[in-house]
Amino acid sequence: MDSPFNADVLKGKVALLTGGASGIGFEISTQFGKHGASIAVMGRRKNVLDDAVSALNSLGIPAVGFEGDVRKQEDAQRVVEATVKHFGKLDILVNAAAGNFLISAEDLSPNGFKTVMDIDSVGTFTMCHEALKYLKKGGQGRSSSSSGGFILNISATLHYTASWYQIHVSAAKAAVDALTRNLALEWGTDYDIRVNGIAPGPIGDTAGLSKLLPQEINNKMRENSPLYKVGEKWDIAMAAVYLASDAGKYINGSILPIDGGLWLSKPRH
Ligand code: HXC
Repeated sequence: MDSPFNADVLKGKVALLTGGASGIGFEISTQFGKHGASIAVMGRRKNVLDDAVSALNSLGIPAVGFEGDVRKQEDAQRVVEATVKHFGKLDILVNAAAGNFLISAEDLSPNGFKTVMDIDSVGTFTMCHEALKYLKKGGQGRSSSSSGGFILNISATLHYTASWYQIHVSAAKAAVDALTRNLALEWGTDYDIRVNGIAPGPIGDTAGLSKLLPQEINNKMRENSPLYKVGEKWDIAMAAVYLASDAGKYINGSILPIDGGLWLSKPRH
């Protein structure tokens, strides 16, 4: 589907996206690029990064890939610095890297719980921490008159209620939402950085949907949730473009559920 936004709404911006080479992260990379941004993607798998960079380049989008694991502070620091070295500055950080699998709380090992917390929550904080000096008003590559940068954290709606076999991700995304609000407060006030979140519902053609909602659960959802629909990666990316653009300049500390209203739906009696 064509974008409803002008193609220059992110013109001249430099964005770094963790998990930006696959799934929802890659669609955000693509749409940011189509709207004028230069793109750095960070991920653990070199072949996935290479494919993503080629696909972005084939659309005429300046793009570079950096291998790294958000659980390692030295990787976070290296990739943020490499992005600034490559493109001269950093305007936008998107934290889209996430670990996930379906497992009952009884069967989940403490290390499995910690692994997802480390990727989703600690990883998000680590990336924000390393990016701060470049994103802040007056940071490297930023003119003294310009505003600060923008951070987008990809969350979920799982923790708004309770979700079967997702205790680790629910806890991790609740922490991500807390980071979004607290950083919006502190860094919005001190450095003019806006920090927002997007909480996708079930989105088609993603690892999240195929791994977490096997067909039989998917069918049950349709029966029990009147608002159940599967969204598209495009839906998430358009919201990301809006939030990152000047149209979102007064939006800070918001976490936008994008799920067609699913999380609040109840069976009709
Ligand atoms: C049970 C598991 C497990 C699984 C890992 N663990 N995978 N436990 N079931 N499938 C446990 C291990 O047993 C181990 O604990 C600990 O986690 C660390 O495992 P490792 O394999 O050493 O970790 P690692 O190689 O670093 O990779 C872990 C991972 C990966 C990143 C979580 O397995 C993974 O799932 N990658 C894909 C990421 C993904 O699908 N992203 C899309 C997210 S979608 P022990 O105790 O044995 O040492 C999303 C949407 C949410 O987030 C909302 C949906 C509606």
